[in-house]
Amino acid sequence: MVYAAVFAGGIGSRMGNSETPKQYLELGGKPIIIHTIEKFFVNDRIDAILVLCPKAWVSNTEDLIRKYLPAGKPVRVIPGGSTRNGTLEAAIAYLEAQCEVDEQTVLVTHDAVRPFLTHRIICENVEAAAAYGACDTVIPATDTIVESADGQSISSIPDRKRMFQGQTPQSFRLRELEQVLASLTESEKASLTDACKIFTLKGKPVHMVQGEVFNIKITYPYDMKVADTLLKGKEHS
Ligand code: CTP
Repeated sequence: MVYAAVFAGGIGSRMGNSETPKQYLELGGKPIIIHTIEKFFVNDRIDAILVLCPKAWVSNTEDLIRKYLPAGKPVRVIPGGSTRNGTLEAAIAYLEAQCEVDEQTVLVTHDAVRPFLTHRIICENVEAAAAYGACDTVIPATDTIVESADGQSISSIPDRKRMFQGQTPQSFRLRELEQVLASLTESEKASLTDACKIFTLKGKPVHMVQGEVFNIKITYPYDMKVADTLLKGKEHS
């Protein structure tokens, strides 16, 4: 089985819209979260979809799914956690308790606020997670990445050719992800917020899947303008 977990548990504080988390803002006439769920809904490699959102938004999200998506593939909505890792843990707990899971089960995790992912990215994630145990979606860094330990001066400038920017999906063989998470100490749990980073620190391979420059994460109000332009471009292409 291949499950998609759409992470929509955040409140979008950097978007500055306190009433409505950014994943529910409308883009081209429907909420961002629906654009994202649709990508998984129509992809044949995905058997079922789990949407994790703030507790207060669960029934509203169910209504949106009924409104915009036809019947067919199972789509469940459950509360996420108070941190992104908490949301990942909620997804794993639900899948283990309520769904068919075995050693081959793959989990594709994706930010609800990245509605422009492609079917190629989804398919390559499923294949890479099954083959390697874990994968991350990345694009080569275009800007030089500068590291600063104190935020005041540069401590190092890594070779740009070796630098990539992480996107999502991040995908895993579910049981392997569980094992790695179970091996963390409480302090590691608090400080390690990226599941692929956890794999890397535990010496496990994380395969890189090529992302897309347009697979943007909507974070700031400016990103809504970019997203609108991207959507209009797609309509005309
Ligand atoms: N996310 C989640 N559960 C959390 C926090 C974040 O599922 N407890 C999700 C967000 O909903 C989003 C994705 O993780 O789809 C990427 O996170 P980010 O862009 O940081 O979203 P927010 O946490 O909502 O944004 P902000 O940091 O501005 O509050």
